[in-house]
Amino acid sequence: MQAPIDGIVTDTLARFGGRQDQLLPALHAIQDSVGYIPSAHVDGIARHFNLSRAEVHGVITFYHYFRSEPPARCVVQICRAEACQSMGADELAAHAERTLGCGMHGHTADGAFALEPVYCLGLCASSPALTINEAVFARVTPARFDALIADVTTTEAV
Ligand code: FES
Repeated sequence: MQAPIDGIVTDTLARFGGRQDQLLPALHAIQDSVGYIPSAHVDGIARHFNLSRAEVHGVITFYHYFRSEPPARCVVQICRAEACQSMGADELAAHAERTLGCGMHGHTADGAFALEPVYCLGLCASSPALTINEAVFARVTPARFDALIADVTTTEAV
Protein backbone atom coordinates (compact mmCIF):
# COMPACT_ATOMS: atom_id res chain seq x y z
CA MET A 1 0.00 0.00 0.00
CA GLN A 2 1.37 3.42 -0.99
CA ALA A 3 2.13 5.79 1.87
CA PRO A 4 -0.05 8.88 1.94
CA ILE A 5 1.31 11.81 -0.03
CA ASP A 6 1.80 13.84 3.18
CA GLY A 7 4.20 11.23 4.51
CA ILE A 8 6.06 10.91 1.23
CA VAL A 9 6.62 14.66 1.02
CA THR A 10 7.68 14.88 4.68
CA ASP A 11 10.07 11.95 4.33
CA THR A 12 11.48 13.35 1.10
CA LEU A 13 12.09 16.78 2.62
CA ALA A 14 13.78 15.14 5.60
CA ARG A 15 16.43 13.76 3.25
CA PHE A 16 17.45 17.27 2.33
CA GLY A 17 18.94 19.88 4.60
CA GLY A 18 17.37 23.27 4.80
CA ARG A 19 19.93 24.93 2.54
CA GLN A 20 18.15 26.80 -0.20
CA ASP A 21 20.38 25.28 -2.89
CA GLN A 22 18.68 21.98 -2.08
CA LEU A 23 15.25 23.25 -3.17
CA LEU A 24 15.54 22.03 -6.77
CA PRO A 25 16.85 18.56 -5.85
CA ALA A 26 14.04 18.28 -3.30
CA LEU A 27 11.40 19.30 -5.83
CA HIS A 28 12.75 16.71 -8.26
CA ALA A 29 12.66 14.06 -5.54
CA ILE A 30 9.08 14.93 -4.59
CA GLN A 31 7.94 14.79 -8.19
CA ASP A 32 9.79 11.50 -8.71
CA SER A 33 8.04 10.02 -5.66
CA VAL A 34 4.55 11.50 -5.93
CA GLY A 35 4.33 12.20 -9.65
CA TYR A 36 3.80 15.90 -9.11
CA ILE A 37 4.30 18.62 -6.52
CA PRO A 38 1.02 19.00 -4.66
CA SER A 39 0.00 22.63 -4.20
CA ALA A 40 -1.08 21.82 -0.64
CA HIS A 41 2.57 21.15 0.21
CA VAL A 42 4.10 24.32 -1.19
CA ASP A 43 3.80 26.08 2.19
CA GLY A 44 5.60 23.23 3.94
CA ILE A 45 8.32 23.13 1.32
CA ALA A 46 8.77 26.89 1.67
CA ARG A 47 9.06 26.61 5.48
CA HIS A 48 11.57 23.78 5.17
CA PHE A 49 13.87 25.95 3.06
CA ASN A 50 13.08 29.21 4.83
CA LEU A 51 11.63 30.65 1.64
CA SER A 52 8.33 32.35 0.92
CA ARG A 53 5.49 30.44 -0.69
CA ALA A 54 5.78 32.82 -3.66
CA GLU A 55 9.45 31.93 -4.12
CA VAL A 56 8.75 28.19 -4.17
CA HIS A 57 5.71 28.65 -6.40
CA GLY A 58 7.87 30.75 -8.72
CA VAL A 59 10.43 27.98 -9.06
CA ILE A 60 7.77 25.33 -9.68
CA THR A 61 6.04 27.37 -12.36
CA PHE A 62 9.28 28.58 -13.99
CA TYR A 63 10.35 25.06 -14.92
CA HIS A 64 7.87 23.35 -17.24
CA TYR A 65 9.23 20.03 -16.02
CA PHE A 66 7.47 20.42 -12.68
CA ARG A 67 3.80 19.53 -12.44
CA SER A 68 1.34 20.86 -9.87
CA GLU A 69 -1.29 18.29 -10.76
CA PRO A 70 -1.20 14.51 -11.08
CA PRO A 71 0.30 13.47 -14.40
CA ALA A 72 -1.87 12.33 -17.26
CA ARG A 73 -2.10 8.57 -17.72
CA CYS A 74 -0.28 8.90 -21.05
CA VAL A 75 2.42 11.51 -21.61
CA VAL A 76 3.31 12.33 -25.20
CA GLN A 77 6.52 14.28 -25.69
CA ILE A 78 7.26 15.66 -29.14
CA CYS A 79 10.79 16.73 -29.98
CA ARG A 80 10.87 20.38 -30.93
CA ALA A 81 14.61 20.70 -31.47
CA GLU A 82 16.23 21.74 -34.73
CA ALA A 83 16.71 18.44 -36.57
CA CYS A 84 13.16 17.35 -35.86
CA GLN A 85 11.82 20.77 -36.83
CA SER A 86 13.56 20.47 -40.19
CA MET A 87 11.83 17.14 -40.74
CA GLY A 88 8.27 18.15 -39.93
CA ALA A 89 8.05 18.32 -36.14
CA ASP A 90 6.07 21.57 -36.28
CA GLU A 91 3.43 19.94 -38.47
CA LEU A 92 3.47 16.87 -36.23
CA ALA A 93 3.04 18.99 -33.10
CA ALA A 94 0.15 20.92 -34.64
CA HIS A 95 -1.45 17.64 -35.68
CA ALA A 96 -1.01 16.24 -32.17
CA GLU A 97 -2.60 19.35 -30.64
CA ARG A 98 -5.60 19.08 -32.97
CA THR A 99 -5.95 15.33 -32.50
CA LEU A 100 -5.68 15.37 -28.72
CA GLY A 101 -7.50 18.66 -28.30
CA CYS A 102 -4.88 20.24 -26.06
CA GLY A 103 -1.87 22.46 -26.50
CA MET A 104 1.75 21.91 -25.53
CA HIS A 105 2.12 21.75 -21.75
CA GLY A 106 -1.57 20.89 -21.59
CA HIS A 107 -3.62 17.78 -21.08
CA THR A 108 -6.88 16.44 -22.36
CA ALA A 109 -9.99 17.25 -20.35
CA ASP A 110 -10.29 13.65 -19.15
CA GLY A 111 -6.68 13.58 -17.98
CA ALA A 112 -5.84 10.73 -20.32
CA PHE A 113 -3.14 12.49 -22.39
CA ALA A 114 -0.62 15.20 -21.72
CA LEU A 115 1.33 16.85 -24.50
CA GLU A 116 4.82 18.17 -23.81
CA PRO A 117 7.71 19.47 -25.86
CA VAL A 118 11.09 17.87 -25.45
CA TYR A 119 14.40 19.04 -26.86
CA CYS A 120 16.34 16.28 -28.62
CA LEU A 121 15.85 12.60 -27.91
CA GLY A 122 19.10 11.60 -29.59
CA LEU A 123 17.26 10.41 -32.69
CA CYS A 124 18.09 13.37 -34.92
CA ALA A 125 18.95 11.13 -37.87
CA SER A 126 15.50 9.54 -37.64
CA SER A 127 13.43 12.62 -36.95
CA PRO A 128 10.84 13.66 -36.18
CA ALA A 129 10.81 11.79 -32.92
CA LEU A 130 8.54 11.55 -29.92
CA THR A 131 7.97 9.53 -26.79
CA ILE A 132 4.80 7.99 -25.46
CA ASN A 133 5.12 7.13 -21.79
CA GLU A 134 8.90 7.17 -22.27
CA ALA A 135 8.86 4.71 -25.20
CA VAL A 136 10.69 6.35 -28.10
CA PHE A 137 9.41 6.47 -31.68
CA ALA A 138 11.24 7.84 -34.73
CA ARG A 139 10.18 9.05 -38.17
CA VAL A 140 6.70 9.81 -36.89
CA THR A 141 4.30 11.16 -39.46
CA PRO A 142 0.85 12.49 -38.51
CA ALA A 143 -0.66 9.21 -39.73
CA ARG A 144 1.75 7.19 -37.61
CA PHE A 145 0.97 9.44 -34.66
CA ASP A 146 -2.71 8.58 -35.03
CA ALA A 147 -1.87 4.88 -35.16
CA LEU A 148 0.34 5.11 -32.06
CA ILE A 149 -2.36 6.95 -30.11
CA ALA A 150 -4.96 4.42 -31.21
CA ASP A 151 -2.68 1.62 -30.08
CA VAL A 152 -2.10 3.23 -26.69
CA THR A 153 -5.80 3.86 -26.28
CA THR A 154 -6.66 0.21 -26.86
CA THR A 155 -3.75 -1.42 -25.01
CA GLU A 156 -3.25 0.81 -21.99
CA ALA A 157 -6.85 1.73 -21.17
CA VAL A 158 -6.22 5.46 -21.24
S1 FES B 1 16.41 17.04 -32.67
FE1 FES B 1 14.78 15.67 -32.31
S2 FES B 1 15.78 13.87 -31.71
FE2 FES B 1 17.39 15.29 -31.93
